[in-house]
This record gives sequence, structure tokens and C-alpha cells, in this order.
Amino acid sequence: MSTVLIDIRRAQPEDAVALAEAHDEAWRTAYLGLIPGPELDKLVARRGPSWWDAAIRRGSRIALLVFGEEIAGYSNYGRNRAKSLAYGGEVYELYLRPEYQGLGFGRKLFAMAKRDLVQAGHSGLVVWALSDNDAAVGFYRALGGRAVARSTERFGAKVLDKVAFAWPR
Ligand SMILES: CC(C)(COP(=O)(O)OP(=O)(O)OC[C@H]1O[C@@H](n2cnc3c(N)ncnc32)[C@H](O)[C@@H]1OP(=O)(O)O)[C@@H](O)C(=O)NCCC(=O)NCCS
Repeated sequence: MSTVLIDIRRAQPEDAVALAEAHDEAWRTAYLGLIPGPELDKLVARRGPSWWDAAIRRGSRIALLVFGEEIAGYSNYGRNRAKSLAYGGEVYELYLRPEYQGLGFGRKLFAMAKRDLVQAGHSGLVVWALSDNDAAVGFYRALGGRAVARSTERFGAKVLDKVAFAWPR
């Protein structure tokens, strides 16, 4: 019998290569047909191992979901960037590789990010999702998030709506 260990832990510099691969796969799958191909290529190319290495070394909060030897997903989070929204923390990104979706891991990763933000002294949190990203919108609603703001983001010639979900504390 073999046992596979599932762990959620903070990213270390030696995770940078695997993290870049997980990011690449998760983003390409999540945004295929939503973000124009060339723009998606640029977004992914910017996030190579050196970008992740630098982010980890400067102390950015990045939680990894590790399944055996593989990085199954990640979340990065920190201070809320939108001053107009009165929530201390923000989950910037939360992504799972496709084969790990729908198994409850997203909920676990989100809970870890939320706990870490509270421990860092941030009260409440917000997360932005593209309005057409049905999985993300369904997920944040299922986790009790309330839509509190809307905005748009440009990807090349395409402008997409986005929505902010919030948790008061
Ligand atoms: C969105 C994502 C993080 C959800 O993680 P997950 O592990 O698949 O979700 P979980 O299994 O933990 O589900 C938690 C809850 O969300 C709900 N949910 C998950 N995916 C959903 C979907 N596609 N549509 C509607 N609800 C969904 C589940 O039903 C569950 O609710 P319940 O506990 O009341 O049954 C994951 O699917 C993912 O990485 N998607 C691609 C990347 C992405 O879009 N990230 C968000 C960017 S803002």
C-alpha cells in the first residue's frame, strides 16, 4: 500500500520551478477562450521561475498545496490593494491544476490564506474574479463571499468585467 501526503505549506525558493509550471498549467486551463491567446501567453511568460523565486525571497505570502511530490495548486495573498474597499486582506490568486479541482482542495487553500491573513493582522478580505470565470464565481459564492464591487480589466483589445467578493472577517 502506498500513502500520498497532502500538505499545505509556505513556498520556499526551491519551489520556484515547480510553482511556475503549476501556474502555467492552471492559468492556461482557467482562461482558455476567455483571455485572448497572445495576452495569456504574455501573462504566463512573465511568471517564470525567476519571478516566483524573487517573490518568495522578498517574503510574499504564497501557500502551496502539495500532493506527494507535485505542486497541485497555490494561493498568494497579502494587504488589500484597493483602498476604496474597507477590507484589510486580499487573496490575489488561488489556482489549482485541473486534475485537483472539485475535490475540496480550493476550500482548504482558501481557509489557510484567510487564517494567515488574520494572523498577520488583516481584518476581512477581498478577492477579485473575472465575471465570466464561472468556476471562480461559483466557488467564492459557495464559500460565503458577497459581491461588493465591480470593475473591468483590459487584456489586449478585450475588456473583461471583474467582480470583488468580500468576507467581513
Ligand atoms: C476555483 C477553484 C479554486 C475552486 O477549487 P476547488 O478545489 O475546485 O473547489 P472545492 O472543491 O474546494 O469546492 C468548494 C465549494 O465551491 C463550489 N465550487 C467549486 N467549483 C465550482 C464551480 N465550478 N461552480 C460552482 N461551484 C463550485 C463547490 O461546489 C464547493 O461548494 P460546497 O462545499 O458547498 O459543495 C478551482 O476550481 C480552480 O483552481 N479553478 C481554476 C482557477 C481559478 O479560476 N481560480 C480562481 C481565480 S480568481
